[in-house]
Amino acid sequence: MNAGAIGFVPTMGALHAGHAALIRRARVDCAHVVVSIFVNPLQFGPGEDFERYPRTMEADVALLEKLGVDAIFSPQTLEMYPQPPQVRVDAGDPGRWLEGERRPEHFAGVAAVVLKLLHIVQPQRAYFGRKDAQQLAVITRIVADLNEPVEIVAVPTVRDFDGLALSSRNASLTSGQRRDAVRLPRALNALAQALAGKKLDIPSAISASAREVAPLRLDYLAVVDPSDFRPLDHVAQGASLLAVGAAYAGTVRLIDNVDILIP
Ligand code: PAF
Repeated sequence: MNAGAIGFVPTMGALHAGHAALIRRARVDCAHVVVSIFVNPLQFGPGEDFERYPRTMEADVALLEKLGVDAIFSPQTLEMYPQPPQVRVDAGDPGRWLEGERRPEHFAGVAAVVLKLLHIVQPQRAYFGRKDAQQLAVITRIVADLNEPVEIVAVPTVRDFDGLALSSRNASLTSGQRRDAVRLPRALNALAQALAGKKLDIPSAISASAREVAPLRLDYLAVVDPSDFRPLDHVAQGASLLAVGAAYAGTVRLIDNVDILIP
């Protein structure tokens, strides 16, 4: 443990066991742990779920007290954005594809708020879940390119009993949608297994796995290099890649990813 080190876990609240895993890891590594709760309007596009995003402040604070965090930073929107921001942070290549194509301002909004939070909290380490793998790639690249004095720590995805990745948005699923939601990680596992089994033609492996997603509405399945997130058509042997996907259960957008190790 670094004497005096501050570990920072940025969140949008509606905390669950995935956030608890980030906080526990920060507590192991750092002397002090700061958690922010801020639903950042900049990263939601028009028609997205900013208004509907779950807000559970009382339960969040109770959990954070139980986890023994040292400080909670929960600013108002006007404190974070006292004037409409004019400087836009380009999320670079990792933000260009997939989520970046479908949610054009999303990663610029994430990048702006994460940089602001890092500058306010000034941690030595900041913790992000692998569940949001493209966000992790964007932030890792921005921190490297801008020489931000912080180490980004990636923490494994926490999954429910059936394999569904924990997410604050899962709270908005009906019981039927919750039952179906596991189809996304199943399709991603099928894709990863097909490719690890030396099926090196990605488009046909994706078409076969896409059939597993119904009754969810598939947005995309893709195979990417985790550092730049450009979708690949063909993989080299020995590559370490990610199967990534997004699908809708009703209006709830689910995203997930699974590691692929090509032998
Ligand atoms: O992953 C999230 O919860 C958010 O995108 C983050 C990193 C807290 C920025 O608002």
